[in-house]
Amino acid sequence: MNAPPDEHASFLENFFDRWNHYLPTGGDLSLAAFWVAVISGVALALSFNPEKAYDSLQILLLSNPGGTLLRGIHYWSGQFLLIFCTFHVVERLSCGAERQVSKGAWLRVSISAAMLLFVMVSGFILKGDKEGLLAREVLNGLIGTLPFVHKTLQYAMLGPGQVSHIIYLHHAVTGTLVVLVIGIEHGRRLWPEWRSWVYVLSFSMIAAYFKAPGLHDSMSPVVKGPWYMLGLQEILHQTSHPLWVVIAIAWVFLLLVALPYLPERYSRNAKVGMAGIFMAYLCLLMIGWLFRGADWQWVSPW
Ligand code: HEM
Repeated sequence: MNAPPDEHASFLENFFDRWNHYLPTGGDLSLAAFWVAVISGVALALSFNPEKAYDSLQILLLSNPGGTLLRGIHYWSGQFLLIFCTFHVVERLSCGAERQVSKGAWLRVSISAAMLLFVMVSGFILKGDKEGLLAREVLNGLIGTLPFVHKTLQYAMLGPGQVSHIIYLHHAVTGTLVVLVIGIEHGRRLWPEWRSWVYVLSFSMIAAYFKAPGLHDSMSPVVKGPWYMLGLQEILHQTSHPLWVVIAIAWVFLLLVALPYLPERYSRNAKVGMAGIFMAYLCLLMIGWLFRGADWQWVSPW
C-alpha cells in the first residue's frame, strides 16, 4: 500500500491518492495489461494467418473454445492497457510529472503513447473483417492527406494489400517493442507488482468469457471502427478536409511534447485546454457509439 491521502490536495490529486492507497497504480495496471497482451498475442499468433486473416480467425472461433478465450483475453487486455494508460497519463499530468523527468524522456514517453494507439488500431485492422478493412481505409486515407511523404508512409506503415505482413510485423514486433523499451525506461522496471497481474488477468478472463470479440459477418449494415476511434470517425464524417483533422491531431501531440518547455502558467492552461479537448472527444465518442447506425445515420440507442 502507498502513502495515505493528503487532506489539502486538489480533487484530482485526492482521487488518485485514494486510488493508489487501496489499489495498484495506473502505471502498474498498464504494465500488467501490456504483458498479458504480449503473452496472449504470441500464443494467438500460432493460429493466425495474416494472408487469410478473416478465415483463420473464423476457424479459431468455430472450432477452438480455448483459442476463442485466448483471443478474448488478448482483446480485453489491449482495451484495459489503453484505458489504464489514459488513467495514468491523467494522473501524472495532474501532478506536474512532465517536469519531474528529463525532456528527452518526456518526448520518448509521448512517442510511446502514440505508438500504443497504432498498436491498438493495427490489431483491429489485422482481423481482416469489414470493420478491420474500414479502419485500414480510414488510416490509409488520413496518411494520404500528408504532402510528399504519403506514399512512402502508407507503404511503410500498412504495406500493400488489405491485410499484409507489414502491418502484422508492426503490430507484433515494431510497435510492441517501442512501447516495451520506452515503458521500461519510463517505469524503471520490467514486471508490475503481483496484485496488478491478478486484477488484469482476472478482469480480462471474465470479460473474454462474457463478451468475446467476434468478427463482422458482412451482413450487418452497421460498420464501425474501434470504440476509441468513434469520435474521430464522427469528426471525419463532418468534414470534407481530413488534412485539418491530421493537423489538429499533430497539434495536440506537439502540445503534449512541449509541456515541459512551457512556463508553469502556460503549461497549466495548456493542460486545461487538453482536458477540454479530451472531454469533447469523449462526447463525440459516445455519440458515435450510441447514436449512429448503418451509413452513419442517427439512431436511438433504445
Ligand atoms: C502491446 C501489445 C499488444 C496490444 C495492446 C495488442 C492489442 C491487440 C488488439 C486490440 C487486437 C484486436 C483484437 C480484436 O479487435 O479482435 C489485436 C489483434 C491481434 N494481435 Fe495484438 N496486441 C499486442 C501485441 C501482440 C503481439 C506481441 C502479438 C503476436 C506476437 C499479437 C498478435 C495479434 C494477432 C495475431 C491479432 C489478430 C487476431 C485478432 O483479431 O484477434 N499482438 N491485438
